[in-house]
Amino acid sequence: MEPTSEKNIVWHHATVTRARREAQNGHRGAIIWFTGLSGSGKSTLAHAVEENLHQRGCRTFVLDGDNVRHGLCGDLGFSAEDRTENIRRIGEVAKLFMEAGILVLTAFISPYRVDRKHARGMVEHGDFIEIYCNTPLNICEERDVKGMYKKARAGLIKEFTGISSPYEAPQNPELTVNTDNIDVDVCVLQIINEMKHRAILTM
Ligand code: ADX
Repeated sequence: MEPTSEKNIVWHHATVTRARREAQNGHRGAIIWFTGLSGSGKSTLAHAVEENLHQRGCRTFVLDGDNVRHGLCGDLGFSAEDRTENIRRIGEVAKLFMEAGILVLTAFISPYRVDRKHARGMVEHGDFIEIYCNTPLNICEERDVKGMYKKARAGLIKEFTGISSPYEAPQNPELTVNTDNIDVDVCVLQIINEMKHRAILTM
């Protein structure tokens, strides 16, 4: 990509800064990045955590793979290149939400370590909390909420994560949760506690 300096684009500095927005909101902005296989519980958890945060009076937003791929990333498929571009765009959008002082929760498979690392690298240390939904493939496949694993096994969906396309598990996530043998409510509390521990939540 051409550097923005060569495109005659300059950065406009707002007077209403992130710090002022955060002060008004009464909490920090941050990115809570869920990663895991399809059916591992990312969306369920992101929405359940959002519900909890909303009830505490926090400003929140969930970016969800199934929704974003209808609009912002509607032109992208599931090749490695397209997934990388998907995650790049999500990272940029999540960063904007965070700058707006919002607690943004993203729920994308985000299968490649390097892409997640890139998203993490776009923000300051401490602004990005990676949560690995470590539900084993056989459980995700058993759940098969959308019937896609069955289709992938039958060869009807190509490059399906976990079947015919890789998933690179995080090596050092801020938190690992497992919705397979632990209740969603308990996982939500684990995530809330982690956010408190990292001073993202003080309320
Ligand atoms: S990502 O790999 O680019 O992060 P994303 O989270 O946006 O993926 O989208 C994943 C969702 O798209 C899955 O939950 C599933 O419903 C659907 N999907 C359709 N085709 C595929 C595929 N080939 N691999 C994985 N998910 C797919």
